[in-house]
Amino acid sequence: MNKQTNLQKLHDLKAKSRLGGGEERIKAQHAKGRLTARERIELLVDKGSFREMDAFVQHRTHDFGLDKQKFISDSVITGWGTIEGRLVYVFSQDFTVFGGSLGEVHAEKICKIMDMAMKSGAPVIGLNDSGGARIQEGVVALAGYADIFLRNTMASGVVPQISAIMGPCAGGAVYSPALTDFIFMTRNTSYMFVTGPDVVKAVTHEEVTQEELGGASVHSEKSGVCHVAADSEADTLFLIRKMLSYLPQNNMEDPPFLITDDPLRMDETLDSIIPDDANKPYDIKDVIRPIMDGGQFFEIHENYAQNIVVGFARLGGHSVGIVANQPAVLAGVLDIDASEKGARFVRFCDSFNLPIITFEDVPGFLPGTNQEHHGIIRSGAKLLYAYCEATVPKLTVVTRKAYGGAYCVMSSKHIRSDINLAWPTAEIAVMGPDGAVNIIFRKELEKAKDPVARKAELVADYREKFASPYVAAERGYIDDVIEPKETRPRLINALEMLSNKRDTNPAKKHGNIPL
Ligand code: HXC
Repeated sequence: MNKQTNLQKLHDLKAKSRLGGGEERIKAQHAKGRLTARERIELLVDKGSFREMDAFVQHRTHDFGLDKQKFISDSVITGWGTIEGRLVYVFSQDFTVFGGSLGEVHAEKICKIMDMAMKSGAPVIGLNDSGGARIQEGVVALAGYADIFLRNTMASGVVPQISAIMGPCAGGAVYSPALTDFIFMTRNTSYMFVTGPDVVKAVTHEEVTQEELGGASVHSEKSGVCHVAADSEADTLFLIRKMLSYLPQNNMEDPPFLITDDPLRMDETLDSIIPDDANKPYDIKDVIRPIMDGGQFFEIHENYAQNIVVGFARLGGHSVGIVANQPAVLAGVLDIDASEKGARFVRFCDSFNLPIITFEDVPGFLPGTNQEHHGIIRSGAKLLYAYCEATVPKLTVVTRKAYGGAYCVMSSKHIRSDINLAWPTAEIAVMGPDGAVNIIFRKELEKAKDPVARKAELVADYREKFASPYVAAERGYIDDVIEPKETRPRLINALEMLSNKRDTNPAKKHGNIPL
C-alpha cells in the first residue's frame, strides 16, 4: 500500500467512526431533541481540546447476527480534553449505535479512561444515553457494568465524578451514575429508573409515564437522585463546566483560587435581615449571596429538601461549600431528606478539601410519626457523623435559632468546628422559650392566678437569659458575636487563618456512618 492509500484508509476509517450509527440514526436522535455523543463533548470541553481514544474499537460478538453489524468505536466515545484549561476525562454514550447499549468493549473503553483519570488525578465526566445492557452480549455486558461500578467506588473521594443523564438510563445501569458525586439531568429528554413503566404496570398495576416515573423533575424534587436539572442539553453541559470551576482536580489538590471581589466588602442589608418576630421567615439565600464573592452561589439540590440549602461559592477567592438551614421552608427544620442532603454534601466537601461554611437557623428536628417511623434517628445521625468526621476548615455563623440537638449537629464547636460566630439575633438554647416554659414551669403555671400573664413573664425571662448568643459565648462555644454586616470579611479572615489547618481522624479501615 502506498503512502497515499495508507492515509486514505485512515481518513476513511475516522470518518466512518465519526458517523456512529449513520445519518438516519443521527437524524432520529436530533428529532428527539437530543444531541449526538460527539456534539455533546464539543459543548462540554474547551474548543478543540478533545482527544479521542479507542476510535477503532469494535465489538467481538457473533451471536444474534451482531457479527454483521459493526460500528467503528462502538457505542461510546471516550477520551480527554480540558475545561477552562484543566484536564478532564469524558465518556459519552452514543445512542445511534445499538441504542448506546453497554457491551464488553463499551465497558472496556470506559474503564480505560477511568483508570487513566485515577493515575493522573483528574475528574471523570460521564454523559449517559443508553438502552442499558447490550442484550445480545448477555452476562458479558453485566460484567462490564460491574467493572465500572468497582471503578466508580474506588475513584470515590479520589477524583470528582460527574454524571449527566441525557437520554435513557435504566435498570442496573443507573448504579454507575448513582455511585458518582453529582448527577445532572436534562428536563424532558432524560429519565432514570430501576424498572420502567411496563414492569411497574405488570407488578403494581400502576400506569405511569417515563417522565412521571424518572424524569428530571421527579429526581430533582422528590427522590433527590438528581443534583442539578437543566432545561436543555447545552445548559446541562454548561452547568457541569461551571460547577467544576469550584472543585480541585483530585483529593490531593487544593481547590482553585480566584479573586473576583473585595475581601473587605461589607453588606449593610444583613444588619436588618432578621425579622423582629423570631418566628417570621426570611430567605437564607439573601444572607448567603451578599456574603459570597460577586454574590454568586452555585446551588446543589435546589428543589429538593429545600429546608436546607447546599452549594458552592467563593469567599475571598477560596472555593467553599455552604450548608445552611432555610427558615423560609418548614422554618428550616431538619428532617430526613434535609439531613441526608446535608450529610452527603459535607462528605463531598471534606473529601475534596473544600472548607465548609455553615449558616445556622434551626428550630430542631421535625417531630412526628412519619419522621420517626422512617428513621429520622438514623438520618439525623448521618449529618452529625459527616460534620464530626470532617477535617477541612469549618466555620459556622448562627444567624438566629440554634436549638436542641440540631445545635450540636450543625457544626457546633464541640464537633470540631474551627470558628463559630453568632449574630446578636442568635438564640442558642435547648429549645425555644415557649416550649421551655411549658415544661419547666408547668406546675407553677397550673397554680398561677393569671397563667397567661405569668407565662408571658416567664417566657420574657427565659428569652432574656437563654435566647441569646451570650450564654454560649461566655463558655467559649461561640468564638465571637459579630455585626451581621461584617460577616464576609470575618469569614474570609478566618479562612485565611485556617489555610494551613491540619487535622486527622484515628487510623481505621473506615468508619461506619449510619447508612
Ligand atoms: C441492544 C439495543 C438495546 C439494548 C436499544 N437497542 N436498547 N440493542 N441492547 N439494551 C437498540 C435497538 O435495537 C435499536 O436498534 C436502537 O438501539 C434504538 O432503540 P429504539 O428502541 O429504536 O429506540 P427508542 O424507541 O428511542 O427506545 C429506547 C429504549 C428502548 C427505551 C431505550 O430501546 C428499550 O427499551 N431498550 C431496551 C432497554 C432494556 O431493557 N435494556 C436492558 C435493561 S437491563 P436499531 O438497529 O433499530 O437502531 C440492564 C441491566 C444492567 O440494563 C444491569 C447492570 C448491573
